[in-house]
Amino acid sequence: MIDNTKNEEFETILDTIDLSKPAPVDEPKRQYYFIKKARGYVKQMSEKAGRPLFSHVTTFGCQMNARDSEKLTGILEQIGYREETEEEKADFVIYNTCTVRENANQRVYGRIGQLKKGKKDNPYMLIGLCGCMMQETEVVEKLKKSYRYIDLIFGTHNIYKFAELIVTRLESQGMVIDIWKDTDKIVEDLPSERKYFFKSGVNIMFGCNNFCSYCIVPYVRGRERSRNPQDIIREIEALVADGVVEIMLLGQNVNSYGKNLKTPMSFAELLQEIEKIEGLKRIRFMTSHPKDLSDELIEVMGKSQKICKHLHLPVQSGSSRILKSMNRGYTKEHYLELVDKIRTAVPDISLTTDIIVGFPTETEEDFQETLDVVRKVRYDSAFTFIYSKRTGTPAASMEKQVADAVVKDRFNRLLQEVQKISGEVCSVHTDTVQEILVEGVNDHDSLLMTGRMSNNQLVHFPGGESLIGKIIDVKLKECKGFYYIGELLKK
Ligand code: SAH
Ligand code: SF4
Ligand code: F3S
Repeated sequence: MIDNTKNEEFETILDTIDLSKPAPVDEPKRQYYFIKKARGYVKQMSEKAGRPLFSHVTTFGCQMNARDSEKLTGILEQIGYREETEEEKADFVIYNTCTVRENANQRVYGRIGQLKKGKKDNPYMLIGLCGCMMQETEVVEKLKKSYRYIDLIFGTHNIYKFAELIVTRLESQGMVIDIWKDTDKIVEDLPSERKYFFKSGVNIMFGCNNFCSYCIVPYVRGRERSRNPQDIIREIEALVADGVVEIMLLGQNVNSYGKNLKTPMSFAELLQEIEKIEGLKRIRFMTSHPKDLSDELIEVMGKSQKICKHLHLPVQSGSSRILKSMNRGYTKEHYLELVDKIRTAVPDISLTTDIIVGFPTETEEDFQETLDVVRKVRYDSAFTFIYSKRTGTPAASMEKQVADAVVKDRFNRLLQEVQKISGEVCSVHTDTVQEILVEGVNDHDSLLMTGRMSNNQLVHFPGGESLIGKIIDVKLKECKGFYYIGELLKK
């Protein structure tokens, strides 16, 4: 499935490509050439093996990576691999990695080690690694030294070249490595295979310029680049024509969208344009940085019929001193003021957040400030993280890193508080009727379906699979902490 072009149209484009000629220089034509070329190779391998070949993409990390993985899957499918849900059975395994915290990296090394045996048993097996972790020089050095059986390594900036890199690997022997330090390029109109037919992520910008002092993302995702609004709108229109009713606009800091476009445009303006798209029912976005959250955006959210009643607004810490050291660009007071403004404009909004515990020099008093914010805002939920030292970031060389036992204790206390409050906050909708978008069959009980409210809370209810992808009314019967048990309303 191609998000921007229908499949048949794509085939017509491929038909016009002559593989006896050198590859075109312009993108995306160049990649279409390599998709066609790779198809030939995969077909040959499949004939030799006497069976179809399968691929599996494993995603680590955030929504950006999830969306990138859909692009990887789209290309793998176009070149002839069938999608396989079990990694062990796949002939092409690719890990789209995350490096935001150290434990994310360790998980990847463990998993690559386990792939070695599969590679020995299956002569057609290829292993690829991409994503944020690959942008770190030490990681690639380690892979080159200790994991020689990897076939393909590339980074976050050249993911669009996946087909070309596969061809390079199949025409050579040994590891192919292609990592770019940064890019100003955005390549549009490549294949992508969506995980859900009714909802989709849509990148509106890439990279990050904020350099929060603990964070590695700006180093591995490069400088901030916004997509042209016309390209975004065109993509969403095509998605809607293909059955999508809900979109999630993606960027590390969506609130600074459009600042560097030739004709600058604010995120609030973009949202208003997207709102006009007929057939689109729900708009979500992620992530909002408090320092760039404008009054204009709050106003648009208040008036909108389609923007979901959920705002993820990472606070990171409640201590203004720590926030300064984190280079976040706001104080505790400014953050709480923002929350007030949003709640006034959108009274029933759900707020969620990210919090880091144990940032260098964090004292018990600083931590108490964080607890204070949690108690004042009363988040629907909060992702809590233990600070992880990332080499190359300013915080890594800060003195007074907090002792592990102290951090652990604070983390547990924070988690307790967050969970207590979220239990109370989440149940306020009991006995009301809410619109939900039905997402699928419940993971644990096949008689139940699972849907999502505008505020992002989950509802499980008895119903049939034919409801998947539909927006329906349910009565919320009982709150079970973080989710509801509901009942379908007869129309
Ligand atoms: N762009 C988003 C965050 C992306 S990373 C924003 O600014 O809100 C997702 C979350 O990971 C961050 O919000 C932060 O809470 C956490 N995080 C990032 N770097 C971290 C580190 N070094 N240690 C622990 N948590 C970290
Ligand atoms: Fe990291 Fe800060 Fe950028 Fe978010 S805004 S990705 S936390 S540097
Ligand atoms: Fe991880 Fe990269 Fe996202 S480091 S959190 S996958 S941008």
